[in-house]
Amino acid sequence: MFESLKPVGMDPILGLMAAFREDIRATKIDLGVGVYQDDRGRTPVMASVKEAEAQLMELETTKSYQGIAGDPEYNQRILQLLFGAGHSILDSGRIKTIQAPGGSGALRVGAEVIQRARPGAKLWVGVPTWPNHIPLLGGAGFEIVEYPYYNLNSHQIDTDAMMDALRQVPAGDMVLLHGCCHNPTGADLSNQQWDQIADLALERGFIPYIDTAYQGLGDGLDEDAYGVRMMADRLPELVIASSCSKNFGLYRERTGSITFITETPEQADIVAAQAMSVARQIYSMPPAHGALLVSLILGDKQLRANWEAELTEVRTRIQSMRSLLADNIQQNAAGIDFSHIKQQKGMFSFLGLNTAQLDQLRDEFGIYIVSSSRVNLAGINSSNIDYLSDSIISVLK
Ligand code: LMR
Repeated sequence: MFESLKPVGMDPILGLMAAFREDIRATKIDLGVGVYQDDRGRTPVMASVKEAEAQLMELETTKSYQGIAGDPEYNQRILQLLFGAGHSILDSGRIKTIQAPGGSGALRVGAEVIQRARPGAKLWVGVPTWPNHIPLLGGAGFEIVEYPYYNLNSHQIDTDAMMDALRQVPAGDMVLLHGCCHNPTGADLSNQQWDQIADLALERGFIPYIDTAYQGLGDGLDEDAYGVRMMADRLPELVIASSCSKNFGLYRERTGSITFITETPEQADIVAAQAMSVARQIYSMPPAHGALLVSLILGDKQLRANWEAELTEVRTRIQSMRSLLADNIQQNAAGIDFSHIKQQKGMFSFLGLNTAQLDQLRDEFGIYIVSSSRVNLAGINSSNIDYLSDSIISVLK
């Protein structure tokens, strides 16, 4: 039977990660996959997560099944993290969340539920977006329609073109938005732009599907949640996929959640049951470990304070690497302006280099960057910044 299968290429981001691991050069630099690295180039387990793991060793009394929706305390605490403890949506009965295997698992469960609710709905996706959004959400049956998001020349959101396109979205379609720290551009919607999109959603009747995978890595936990919180206030329906991969450093633990806001409490119960039925059909139950850690951290005053302090360190380190890189490579033979890197948010920005330059960086200098020229600023550190800047300047000659 398998003779009919054609070879399939490796995912571009994960393929680059594998190629980097095989490179034996001591000077190699990984600016590819979106994983945080500290100033020594390591991706350590956060100290607050380590402490929660130690507590869990003592507290955990069973490995029995948890249930399709995962850990109820985790679900509750994630809602408070996303919306802030006092948000009125939390007591409305119109909101339900279930734990999911990472942000990707959450996105897929959400997509499958939406497909069940409205089989013909199209998904409008900003260009560019995280490349895996297309197979992940398209694979659930969505027809994908693109809307312009980022202007490669101005390094800004193409606001007019984006709003013009969103004005064409028919009632009932879904619009994918990045909650914060846009992947791959780092160009985030301003609060005013969020408000304008909410106005349009109300006017046109489309429903935002927000992917929020970097809360806390942009401007702060509350600041990064502006769009999610405001839309929950104003819109009758909303779907939010969230992840603890980046802000808790729990990548391999696959810790995420899918949240639905519905028009009525009755609908919320039905949607949650549908989401659990989708999950049962695909993977039955989400993995427990990461969610139990998050729940312990968010539920304990001291652990939470420690985690927030670590997250602040992550955020400020990335911000300082943004400034350092932009300043170092601003003077270049090609006359390219890199100042946008300083203003953008989260892990990523585009360098704007072409394929030949990116190939040269990888082959000659051992610097790994995905083909869109998206760089993970967290891969930069005080030991590699000079070598990196010199290498970029040299391929720009
Ligand atoms: C990224 O964009 O690099 C991360 O979200 C990791 C991934 O799965 O692609």
